[in-house]
Amino acid sequence: MFGDHIIFGTLLAGSLCLHLVSTDTCPAGAMPGLPGIPGFPGRDGRDGVKGEKGNPGIPIKPYEVIKKGEKGEPGIKGRPGKRGHNGEDGIRGPLGPPGEPGDPGNSEGSSSPLQSAFSVSRATRSLPEPNAVIRFSTIITNVNGHFNATLGKFICKIPGTYYFVFHASSKEKNLCVILMHDDKKIVNFCDHMQRNSQQVSSGGLAVYLKENEKVWLVTNSYNGLFAEGRKADSVFSGFLIHAH
Ligand SMILES: *[C@@H]1O[C@H](CO)[C@@H](O)[C@H](O)[C@H]1NC(C)=O
Repeated sequence: MFGDHIIFGTLLAGSLCLHLVSTDTCPAGAMPGLPGIPGFPGRDGRDGVKGEKGNPGIPIKPYEVIKKGEKGEPGIKGRPGKRGHNGEDGIRGPLGPPGEPGDPGNSEGSSSPLQSAFSVSRATRSLPEPNAVIRFSTIITNVNGHFNATLGKFICKIPGTYYFVFHASSKEKNLCVILMHDDKKIVNFCDHMQRNSQQVSSGGLAVYLKENEKVWLVTNSYNGLFAEGRKADSVFSGFLIHAH
């Protein structure tokens, strides 16, 4: 192999002399000859020595080999699941706004249960017991029967505001009429009589009552209540003004 190189170099040096420096270094006086015909191409050289092992290649990634498929269509919607357990009760909300006003009432609704009124008169000429319930045993009016004549007391069945009034005839004797509300004296109306005179005294007031509270009249030691039928009456009345 080295021998070939040396031969090739020598031939090349000779050719240069003919071509480039013929007028200076070659002998003078003679015309240079024409260049020779190029030789035939040499034969292929022998195979070279086997090269060193190359660096490892970059590994291919799986997705570079397995091509990803197209996205599929959505599946059919499944059936609804079973109802879950009830949650705990929430906190009570705030009060709502007031409702619309109701329709006008019917003045002929006498069968309405929200009514209560009574007027009773005393049916005896004898004076009531002092410091005792004044009894009125003649029933003039007793809507829904809330006045108990046996007890001589009004018993509230419809909570609300009531008005009570009495008109008591008296003659020749002082009279005090006290309006009671569940064993509490609310008002005391007294008249002091002249001898041989006769008059009617009255009193009344509005009272708020809860269910089963009672209202009645009593006298104290001034018990000159007089009731003589055609000549004079003593009457106790009460009625519901407004139910609550
Ligand atoms: C009046 O009250 C008495 C005693 O509570 C009772 O026995 C009677 O039935 C009542 N009368 C009426 C008409 O409710």
